[in-house]
Order: sequence, then structure tokens, then C-alpha cells
Amino acid sequence: MLITLKEMLGEAQKNGYAVGAFNTNNMEIVQAIVESAEEERAPVILQASQGGLKYAGIQYIVAMVKAAAEQASVPVALHLDHGTSFEQIMQCIRHGFSSVMIDGSKLPLEENIALTARVVEAASAVGVSVEGELGKIGGTEDDITVDEKDALFTNPEEASLFVEKSGVDALAIAIGTAHGPYKGEPKLDFDRLGEIKKRVAIPLVLHGASGVPDASICRAIEMGICKINIDTDIRQAFARGVSRVLAETPQEYDPRKILGPAKVEMKEVIKTKMRLFKCSAKA
Ligand code: G3H
Ligand code: 13P
Ligand code: ZN
Repeated sequence: MLITLKEMLGEAQKNGYAVGAFNTNNMEIVQAIVESAEEERAPVILQASQGGLKYAGIQYIVAMVKAAAEQASVPVALHLDHGTSFEQIMQCIRHGFSSVMIDGSKLPLEENIALTARVVEAASAVGVSVEGELGKIGGTEDDITVDEKDALFTNPEEASLFVEKSGVDALAIAIGTAHGPYKGEPKLDFDRLGEIKKRVAIPLVLHGASGVPDASICRAIEMGICKINIDTDIRQAFARGVSRVLAETPQEYDPRKILGPAKVEMKEVIKTKMRLFKCSAKA
């Protein structure tokens, strides 16, 4: 069954765990995520990025996730990751997404609030949840200096205003994580997370969580993070699985024998994350 982010994260917040939000781009990734959720008895979010929508096409993403969700006995949400415009949000809602993210984080605060509020008004009318973003979650290639931190990371006062004025159901915050593989060990700004949590009652979202040490993930969950985005760790597991088969049996040409082991490798990673996020056995 497909449910909304609001329902799913409400439960997570009440019971002190985070739901894993895993990016998907093809059938094997959809199956790896949903089979992992079934085996772990975990609620799960499948999300499609801009690149994912371009690669697979919105119809394929929706059809694959719906097929998996219909067979699943755990709650599943289908979420748009880093939505770029009101038009794209409408398209996703029309195709059956149960939840969307509008990423206005590159806009000035007032414009981000205005765009996000417009999306919330339309989405909530048809029972679709909305995640907003405040602060800039960059790539691991952007080296953030200490001086830049205040300009790029989420400002707690602004977070409170943003949530109140936009009406979002969940808020993605910038506290030191970045998208992609990290060069060193990421250091999260837990003081800032604490200040945001004091002022914001809705579930908070951590992006760029691949490669973040387990201890930091646990602390972030204890401090109010309810949704954790993972993409890179799954991509790397997929690549490991494919590389191993082709290294061991270079003459292999059956896609099922090449992609099957990649799925097994992805499931190991996803199930380990679910246990770490404490969402296992919560469905
Ligand atoms: O949020 C970013 C995703 O991890 C990757 O995005 O699929 O568009 O490369 P992409
Ligand atoms: P990673 O690729 O760093 O796990 O980030 C995923 C993400 O935040 C998707 O929105
Ligand atoms: Zn992200």
C-alpha cells in the first residue's frame, strides 16, 4: 500500500526512529528496496531524483513502485526528491506520487517560503505531503569553510519562520552533510540541530547520509531526524555487485546473472541502514 510521508513520519517521530528514503532509478533498485523493507518489516520511502526521472521516465518510476507497493505488506511512500518547480510537482501528483519535495533552497528566504506555500496549498488539497528545504545541502566536492557555514547551513530562526509560513509537513536541513561520497569524515553540527529542534515541531530530514558514521546517524535520530536519504551507498553497492560478476566471469552476458548479484549487494546495504535507523520491525 502507498501511504503519505506525513503519516509515516508522524509515527517515526512519536516512536523515536527514522524512516529510510532510498533513491531508485530502475527495477532492480525498486525490488532491492521493497524486498529489504519486507524482510525487515520496515516502513519505507522510495524516492525519484531529477536524474532518476530523466533516466527511467515518470511513468516507469510510478508503475514500478506501485507494482512493488501493491505486493508489499509494509507501508510504502513514493516521494519526489528535490522537486524543482510547481509544474513538476503537479505532474508527479497527477501520476500518483504520495509525497513531494519542493527544493527552493537556492532562492532567497521569502521566495522559498512563497513557492513552498503554493505547493503545500495545492498538494494538501489532494492529500499529498510536502517536504521543504532550508539551507544549502551541497555536493561533497563543495569544500565548505568555517566562515561559509553560517551562510549555507540552516538558520534555526529562519527554520521556525519557514515552517510556520509555508505549512510544510517535513523539513530538510543543512547541518554538514553533502550529496555524494565524502573525502574525509563528515562532521555534523549537532548544536545547530538542537537549536532547530527547539523551534520546529515537524519531522526533520537528513540528506546526503551515505558515508555518515553510524554514531552520528544515531545521534541525529535521537535529536529529531525522522527521514534519512540514502543514494550513493546504494549506487556503490550496485557497482560492486556488477563489477564482481564481470571480474569473476568476464564472459557472462545474461543481464539477470549480472544484475541479480547487484540486487543482493544493495539489499545488504539497505537492510543494514534500516536497522541503524531503528525502523526495522516498525511496520
Ligand atoms: O539528490 C541527489 C541524488 O542523490 C542524486 O541525484 O539522480 O539526479 O544524480 P541524480
Ligand atoms: P547521498 O547520495 O549522499 O546518500 O544523498 C542522497 C540524498 O540526499 C538524496 O536526496
Ligand atoms: Zn538530497
